[in-house]
Amino acid sequence: MRSLIDIQELSVQEIDELIAVANDIIAHPDDYREKCRYKKLATLFFEPSTRTRLSFEAAMYELGGQVLGFSEAQSSSAAKGESVADTVRVVSGYADIIAMRHPKEGAPLVASMHATVPVINAGDGGHLHPTQTLTDLLTISREKGRLSDLTIGFCGDLKFGRTVHSLIAAMARYPGVKFALVSPIELKLPSYVKKEILQSRGLPYVQTTDLNSVMPELDILYMTRVQRERFFNEEDYLRLKDSYILTPEKLQNAKADLSILHPLPRVNEISTAIDSDPRACYFRQALYGKFIRMALILKLLEVK
Ligand code: NCD
Repeated sequence: MRSLIDIQELSVQEIDELIAVANDIIAHPDDYREKCRYKKLATLFFEPSTRTRLSFEAAMYELGGQVLGFSEAQSSSAAKGESVADTVRVVSGYADIIAMRHPKEGAPLVASMHATVPVINAGDGGHLHPTQTLTDLLTISREKGRLSDLTIGFCGDLKFGRTVHSLIAAMARYPGVKFALVSPIELKLPSYVKKEILQSRGLPYVQTTDLNSVMPELDILYMTRVQRERFFNEEDYLRLKDSYILTPEKLQNAKADLSILHPLPRVNEISTAIDSDPRACYFRQALYGKFIRMALILKLLEVK
């Protein structure tokens, strides 16, 4: 029995296989409608979510399975003081697989040590978000036809943005990938990610506060929201929240085939005027999240 807590637990070959299955699901959805009949997914969400929870649920329904769970800590026994370990021990008897989001870093890892069914990390605090990364990789591979030889710029809140940490860890394993890290000084990529993922492998990266200076090189621009809920005080959030607002003018020196990704939700960091630009991929990206989660559920449940 296998869980997914950190994207690095999957080999590059396994990721390629998940992408291939997701593409096959997109092409032949009818072939998958009964695959998870009589199986149940529990979504244990101790933090807000729209896309991750609903795409997991839609994924399980489209595989013919069923879903149970809760969408806020207040409606679960966590509000009475129950531990994550006890919760998942019990839920293991009610469901075949668990997707968990939690504000505490490491909570899904703890859950996976106590559950008797696979646990998927659906986002833990400012740490990791492996299924968003699978979504991002499927999107990049469909938009660009490859995951290697790309220059990818990450812009916004690189400190608290868990999707950024997981996607950097994943992209670092493909050859010829270059990184541009664009953020205010206070929201720089954590040094453990920089050291363990980029510097230890000698991967090329630039770190800057100036998006404009790197824009012409980028094949992918990964925009992120400033993660208000992780700030210790509101003043810092208010000062930093408008650091980068992508507008059509700022794309003037961008490549004609740039792909603009964003895990969503967007606050104001991408002007709605960009939405009609063919380079805007973020709504397609959110849709792909459902298909790659279908592929992941099949893999972890070992359904052929
Ligand atoms: C992201 C998350 O929860 O980390 N959202 C998502 O899952 N698509 C990004 C965010 O909340 O900014």
